[in-house]
Amino acid sequence: MGGWLLRYEGFDPAAERLREALCAVGNGRFVTRAAAPERRADAVHYPGTYAAGVFNRLTDQVAGQRVENESVVNLPDWQSLTFRIDDGEWLDLRRVAVSGYVQELDLRRGVLTRRFRMTDPAGRRTTVAQRRLVSMADPYLAVLETTVVAEDWSGRLTVRSGLDGRVENRGVPRYAGLRSRHLVPERACVPDGADGVLGLVVETSTSRTRIGLAARHRVTVDGRLAEPATAPVAVPDSAAVDLTVELAAGGRATVEKTVALCTSRDHALAEPGDAAREQVGAAGDVEQLLGRHVLAWRRLWNRCDVEIDGSPRAALVLRLHVFHLLQTLSPHSADLDVGIPARGLHGEAYRGHVFWDEVFVLPFLSMRLPEVARAALLYRWRRLPQARAAARACGRRGAMYPWQSGSTGREESQALHLNPRSGHWVPDHSHLQRHIGLAVAYNAWRYYEATADLDFLAGHGAEVIVEVATFFADLATYDRADDRYTIAGVMGPDEYHDALPGSSEPGLADNAYTNVMAAWVLARAADCLDVLPPTRRQELLDELGVGPRDLVRWEHVSRKLRLCWHDDGVLGQFRGYEQLAEFDWAGYRERYGDLSRLDRILEAEGDSTNRYRLSKQADVLMLFQLLTADEFYAVLDRLGYAHDRQTIPRTVRYHLDRTCHGSTLSRVVHAWVLARSNRRRAWDYWLQALESDVADVQGGTTGEGIHLGAMAGTVDLLTRGFTGLETRGDVLGVDPCLPEGLRRLRFRLTYRGQPDLAVTITPTTLTIGGDARTDVLPLRVRDAEHRFDPRGGVRVELHRHGSEHPEHPEHPEHPAAGVQGPPPR
Ligand code: BGC
Repeated sequence: MGGWLLRYEGFDPAAERLREALCAVGNGRFVTRAAAPERRADAVHYPGTYAAGVFNRLTDQVAGQRVENESVVNLPDWQSLTFRIDDGEWLDLRRVAVSGYVQELDLRRGVLTRRFRMTDPAGRRTTVAQRRLVSMADPYLAVLETTVVAEDWSGRLTVRSGLDGRVENRGVPRYAGLRSRHLVPERACVPDGADGVLGLVVETSTSRTRIGLAARHRVTVDGRLAEPATAPVAVPDSAAVDLTVELAAGGRATVEKTVALCTSRDHALAEPGDAAREQVGAAGDVEQLLGRHVLAWRRLWNRCDVEIDGSPRAALVLRLHVFHLLQTLSPHSADLDVGIPARGLHGEAYRGHVFWDEVFVLPFLSMRLPEVARAALLYRWRRLPQARAAARACGRRGAMYPWQSGSTGREESQALHLNPRSGHWVPDHSHLQRHIGLAVAYNAWRYYEATADLDFLAGHGAEVIVEVATFFADLATYDRADDRYTIAGVMGPDEYHDALPGSSEPGLADNAYTNVMAAWVLARAADCLDVLPPTRRQELLDELGVGPRDLVRWEHVSRKLRLCWHDDGVLGQFRGYEQLAEFDWAGYRERYGDLSRLDRILEAEGDSTNRYRLSKQADVLMLFQLLTADEFYAVLDRLGYAHDRQTIPRTVRYHLDRTCHGSTLSRVVHAWVLARSNRRRAWDYWLQALESDVADVQGGTTGEGIHLGAMAGTVDLLTRGFTGLETRGDVLGVDPCLPEGLRRLRFRLTYRGQPDLAVTITPTTLTIGGDARTDVLPLRVRDAEHRFDPRGGVRVELHRHGSEHPEHPEHPEHPAAGVQGPPPR
């Protein structure tokens, strides 16, 4: 592995789906899996192309219930391309002897290459090389270039290329019992001699989105433009053509396939099929397209690259994470009405839905590509009407965001899910994760802090924050007995607890994560109103029907929400958690090995995770990622709960060892909460989180789509967690605490309209450089105030950090060794 090259050698059928997801190419508008172009979907291969925001809804009967699922749609396979020699067999790697098989993803240039040599049953040796890209410069265009070298034979080479509309959504085996055909063919046309362009138009069956594709071919033989014999091929629901040329021994044929993909959701077009034809008609040749594409990537890398010295593999995987983040969300997606899909646009897991994972993604974007972050926040703002309707439907005011969101913003969570271990369809209550709305409001406020984009806050963000605050103030019910508010009937981020044992009703009361974040959001909602220009503030309050009594209620609830403490001062996950049984970790580990899916293991045994003190993922601990120690303690003060500086360390220690990491998000959070106190363990967790996708630690899930939250979370942890980068107030704060494995860290930032701040951190120095356009900027390094002068930059010597002593969180009496809480932010 080099610094920019993800490289695989040899063809490994068992790893093919994983590689397809990890080597996918895309531009924020659409992403295409790195499937072998000559294969259709089968047990090994899964061609998939997904366009941001293109969903379709289908209905099924499952276990006697009618279920509706909205899914991101697998679009026609534009890569489809194979060849044969004379009248031989079409390319099938299983039927030829293959050597030198290499697949390389060049992250810097956004180009995927595949090369191999084969000897066919007739003994002919052929070399094949393919390059593909989805253009970051021309958002409708993609290219597949195939070069075939006849090493020791001469004869007829026939290349069959198509736009394959027979695809279905069959990428996730667990969904196999559900309907999977989302596309209705509309029109296919093969080259008519006029422009030699293939065309295909399909429509999604219920959302009625039209998708138009066009493919142009340019063939050269031995470097000279050739005029292949073309013959249309009849393939159902598809457009396909055979292109035939003669090759002499040692001869080389190259087929450039340039494809345009347009949808009726795109701007500035009338009909997607026509638009796609126009796009390929106007496109330059491959070298021109490649040149523009590489420049567009360079522009992104100039802003988004994160370089580390210390571990070459970690450095590469880190870039891979940034790469896939930018392929899912780019300046091209900023122009669309799309959210942040939890599994990228790389597969069909979670049906392309949008969860709370954006809380891990947005900080990185807000400080590099703020317009992209803003667009993702607008996706939420546009869905306020649905969120309001959802709140009203359960008798509440304000806005209740759905746990899973798709096209309209209605709740898309499934009602049942399949436990593959037992074969049972199990009720799914995950939609009770009302905390999603808190993340939406939190994100809007943090974006404002990082960008000072008052225009956004006044026009959109404040409305979201106020409506979420109104909902939570209304959701909380007052309990006279102890003068506290409770929030009941909810789930926290830990999806392995959806009810108390034996309860007939799903939902829990006083989930600490939900209540603390609700108190925080209620307080920020008041701050947010203070920041708005007075006229806008009054307009908003009038428009939303929020009056003085509501503001009093916000204040009251935010001071009186209940938290449940264990006897030893640990913050409990929810009311009743402490009464649950301890789990037999050692026994189960011995029996099952991997315990990440304890929900499935226990359900198959007729037991339930609800009975035990265990967690799928960071739940209480998530508080210490989202809030600084100071912010967290301020909420406790506000709520009137006594605490000391050991409250966080105690709570961290307790929950840390009761988490089975059934979500890839979990290790990111664990690394974060240990970043200041136990740098070695934090680094280990970070390295593990880094492996989530590249090593497919969940054993097969990455092939169904990358884990975008974990990918972005590892980058965010590095650039904010280990650096203590903080954008609160009007000062840019930095308080580095690099793990020992990290010798140097370099990245760039945009802060409040000041682009291109170049940050370099080593264990002993911090330097920040700007350019002449940068204004003088207030900067706080550790506790010292600096004026950042762009002309000279700043260089600060870093002294040993207070918590850099022997790190044993087990010894909290040693203040320097105890968990000091999360890094300031
Ligand atoms: C996690 C959620 C997450 C979702 C999508 C689930 O496994 O428990 O927290 O939002 O995956 O990534």
